[in-house]
Amino acid sequence: MNEYETLLKQIESITRKDLPLVSNLANTAAILFQIDNVNWAGFYLLTDNELVLGPFQGDVSCTKIPLGKGVCGKSAETRKTIIVDDVNLFDGHIACSSLSKSEIVVPLIKEEKLIGVIDVDAPIYSRFKKEEQEFLEQVRDVLVSVIK
Ligand code: SME
Repeated sequence: MNEYETLLKQIESITRKDLPLVSNLANTAAILFQIDNVNWAGFYLLTDNELVLGPFQGDVSCTKIPLGKGVCGKSAETRKTIIVDDVNLFDGHIACSSLSKSEIVVPLIKEEKLIGVIDVDAPIYSRFKKEEQEFLEQVRDVLVSVIK
């Protein structure tokens, strides 16, 4: 089993539908933070039509992101995964940590309803590829399946 298959199994076994969403996301953030070369992993959740900081691991981060702003807001608005190889070149990137050099954001959508986004940052450029996108989209599917 490769690293991502192992982490996915851990997430599948630790998340449960009878647990509060915050518990499932908190443990998932702890597991995602184990990925090599990652300095931030967590969630922003849609609350009153903006993204609000959810469970995460890493440095203190910005608490609110309007839809359409930053990588998170853009991913939430377009409902598409976004990979940014160099955050300095992404128009409107919100720099919460000066360590972050590249980033991936995957929207969490259940039955057409936007729940929030998964956000993972790396301290090196071009950290996230197709493999990471596929892994995080599988994580997204697991999370969506335990959201009530
Ligand atoms: N860089 C993100 C903000 C959140 S931090 O990366 C944790 C963005 O531009 O949306």
